[in-house]
Amino acid sequence: MSATTAVIVAAGRGERFGGGDKQFALLAGEPVLCHAIRAFGDAASVDDIVVVLRGERFPDFVREVACRVGTRKSVRLVEGGSTRTASVAAGLKECFDSTDFVLVHDGARPLVRSEWIDAAVELLRTGGPRDGLVFAAPSTDTIKLVQEGAIIETPSRDSFFRAETPQLFAFKTLLEAYRRAAVDGFIGTDDAAVVERVGGRVEIFETPGMNLKITTKADLDLAEAELRRRAGGG
Ligand code: CTP
Ligand code: MG
Repeated sequence: MSATTAVIVAAGRGERFGGGDKQFALLAGEPVLCHAIRAFGDAASVDDIVVVLRGERFPDFVREVACRVGTRKSVRLVEGGSTRTASVAAGLKECFDSTDFVLVHDGARPLVRSEWIDAAVELLRTGGPRDGLVFAAPSTDTIKLVQEGAIIETPSRDSFFRAETPQLFAFKTLLEAYRRAAVDGFIGTDDAAVVERVGGRVEIFETPGMNLKITTKADLDLAEAELRRRAGGG
């Protein structure tokens, strides 16, 4: 049996959300972070969970989140850093040496589903010469390459995906990629970028449904509508 750990990063400041802390904002009556943690708690392929938070939110986590999630899995808290890269690195440090696979997830993505997680872990464990898988959605917009305000290229839309989380990797591969990122001072916006830059092969796992990241207050309404749709049998 291999051991799989979920690292859920929730140590950002939510500046575009306009203050407050978006992972603690209520979505369908529960903090956003509860929804994300529960999906990993319910996923049979996940053994334990590390949650990365700003230190001052630890008491709120215990009071508002931990008591609602109701998972039997170990959930450990660790303090994040000033960038997402630093927060993920802190989470990886908290993983057990016996970890085989790690999934990194944004605490601000509450719509992830445990069935999707299980399917992706199974794919990573069982097949192909790949170092990682990234949940991603095909771009529905036409993407323009722009320099100084002028479009210099309109590449084919088929080649573009929006990278989401979870992003999952063999643990040792991700740990080593993050170690090298720290040595080089590289700050990526996602985990795949950290592995890609050291030559890793990271593939797309097409997200089976809506997996919105809460960025602004309006996103809460969209996520709530999606949860209502799912509750109605969708
Ligand atoms: N994150 C983190 N530590 C940081 C920055 C971000 O753990 N220093 C986490 C966020 O909590 C979030 C995820 O990374 O779950 C994605 O980041 P983003 O959506 O950009 O969240 P924030 O950085 O909090 O928001 P903003 O950029 O609007 O300030
Ligand atoms: Mg940010």
